Amino acid sequence: MDKITVVGAGNVGATAAQRVAEKELARQVVLIDIAEGVPQGKGLDQFQSAPIEGFDSRVIGTNGYEESAGSGIYIVTAGIARKPGMSRDDLLTTNAGIVRQVSENIARVSPDAIIIMVSNPLDVMSYVAMKASGFTRERVIGMAGVLDTARYRAFLAMELDVSVEDIQAMVLGGHGDTMVPLISYTTVSGIPVTQLMDRAKLDAIVDRTRNGGAEIVKFLKTGSAYYAPSAGAVQMAEAIVKDKKRILPCAAWLQGEYGMRDLFLGVPVKLGRNGMEGIIEVELTDDERAALQKSADAVLEPMALV
Ligand code: NAI
Ligand code: 2OP
Repeated sequence: MDKITVVGAGNVGATAAQRVAEKELARQVVLIDIAEGVPQGKGLDQFQSAPIEGFDSRVIGTNGYEESAGSGIYIVTAGIARKPGMSRDDLLTTNAGIVRQVSENIARVSPDAIIIMVSNPLDVMSYVAMKASGFTRERVIGMAGVLDTARYRAFLAMELDVSVEDIQAMVLGGHGDTMVPLISYTTVSGIPVTQLMDRAKLDAIVDRTRNGGAEIVKFLKTGSAYYAPSAGAVQMAEAIVKDKKRILPCAAWLQGEYGMRDLFLGVPVKLGRNGMEGIIEVELTDDERAALQKSADAVLEPMALV
C-alpha cells in the first residue's frame, strides 16, 4: 500500500505507527496529531529506527491532513484515554467531537480510505466516524474484539501453560464490561477448552477478560493500555493490506445480522482489501444470545447521545 495514516500520536497511535512501519505495510506512514511538534518528533524518531530495524517505510509526522491525502487506511486513535475510575463511556462527548472532526478531514482528503477506529467508547465512535465520513459500512471497522480476544487468549495460555498460538477464541459484543467471550468456541488446537479446565477457572478468566482494560488502567494510573491495542489495530490493517481474508472479531455496522440493525457491535468479520467483506453469523446458545443482546443495549444507550 502506498500510504497508511495514524491519527493521534499518543500511546496507541505512536506505537501503531511504529508497528506499521516495522512490518512495511505501506511505503509511507503518516502520523497526525493536534499537539504541535509531537507527531513530527515521534515520526522522525521512528524513521531513525529504520536503519537499525531494517525497514524502508518512511514515517512522517504532521498537524495537518494534506500530507495524508490518498492513504488507503486510517487508524484513528485521537481522543482522550481512561484514567482510574473512568469508564469508556465517560469519554463519550469529548471523543465524539474529536472523532467527528477527524472523520470529516479523512473523507475530504482520502474519500476512498478505510477507517479502523480505536478511540473509545469504541462502538459509538465507529458510528460517529461512519456518519461524519459518509463512508459505507465496509469501510469503517472498529478495533476491540481483536484486543479483548488477545487478552482472553493470553490469560488462557498463562493458566494452561501452553502456547498463545494454540488458543483459538472469539470475544464478541461491545467493547465494555458486557463483552461476550464465547466459551463454546474456545479451543486449544481444536480441543474444547472445557475439556482442559474446570468451569470455575474458566469463569474467572472470562471475568478477568471483561475487566482487562481496567486492570491495566489501575496499574498505569495515568492512561490505558497501548501495546496490545496497537497490535490489534495493526493486525486488522495487515489483513486489509495483504487481502488476507482473515476472520477476526471486529466492530461492524449490523444490518440484520444476529437479528440486530443500525449499531456497531463486535462480531466475526472477514477482512480483506475492501475492508469489512462479510459478517459471519455463528450459532449461539440461548445464554450467549442473551448476553449479546445485553451488550447491544449497552452500546445503544450512549449511541443515542451523539
Ligand atoms: P493518548 O492520550 O496517549 O493519545 C491520544 C492522542 O490524541 C493525543 O496525542 C492527543 O493530542 C491526540 N488528539 C486529541 N485530539 C485530537 C484531534 N482532534 N486530532 C488529532 N489528534 C488528537 O491516548 P491513547 O492511550 O493513545 O488512547 C487513544 C484512544 O484509544 C483513547 O480514546 C482510548 O480510550 C482508546 N483505546 C481504545 C482501545 C480499543 O480497544 N478500542 C484500546 C486502547 C485505547
Ligand atoms: C482497553 O481496553 C481502555 O479500551 C481500552 O484497554
